[in-house]
Amino acid sequence: MRELSLNILDIAQNSIAAGASLTEILIKEDSVKKELLIGIYDNGKGMTEEQVRNVQDPFFTTRTTRKVGMGIPLFKMAAEQTGGSFSIVSQVGVGTRVEAKFKTDSIDFTPLGDMSSTIATIVCMNEDKDFIYTRDVDGESFKFSSADIKTILDGVPLSEPSVMNWVEGYIGEQTEQLLKN
Ligand SMILES: Nc1ncnc2c1ncn2[C@@H]1O[C@H](COP(=O)(O)OP(=O)(O)OP(=O)(O)O)[C@@H](O)[C@H]1O
Ligand SMILES: [Mg+2]
Repeated sequence: MRELSLNILDIAQNSIAAGASLTEILIKEDSVKKELLIGIYDNGKGMTEEQVRNVQDPFFTTRTTRKVGMGIPLFKMAAEQTGGSFSIVSQVGVGTRVEAKFKTDSIDFTPLGDMSSTIATIVCMNEDKDFIYTRDVDGESFKFSSADIKTILDGVPLSEPSVMNWVEGYIGEQTEQLLKN
């Protein structure tokens, strides 16, 4: 079964492709309401209203030589099939806000998957971009900022395998701590 971390990777890659210098990824869980919110917010080139409509439709394409883009339709479907919702708010020249809400008690809810490795991969493969990852569980949260990491590393490339392992381990520990509370 597909994991939501793969959808998140896909949506964050759209932000990077749109030239975003900062992309924020938010995962917010409410264990009482049994809801999970995933937000990907960027300051990339944005989309027109018509583009926003079209990219949500899996059967729309202006391309004849390549496959239809499926990143957004798949993420939207994953949320809606749980009884949740999906939205894109975008402005040309300003950025894009993608939000998906999931009902976690639905039998169609897909597990989140390995977010530590997903965030470490995104951050370390895109050294020239900044990312903020926030994980919130019932109002308790932690924030991971790539800009802070770069300051600490003081010139050591993020692409070093040891750095990527460290980032993954760090996020993993913080997440465990949060889930224990
Ligand atoms: N954050 C964003 N900012 C600007 N444009 C975006 C953004 N996200 C998506 N788009 C536009 O919407 C299109 C569709 O995105 P989608 O992820 O569904 O497919 P894709 O990226 O083209 O292909 P793939 O199936 O490989 O993901 C993109 O090609 C891009 O033009
Ligand atoms: Mg995509």
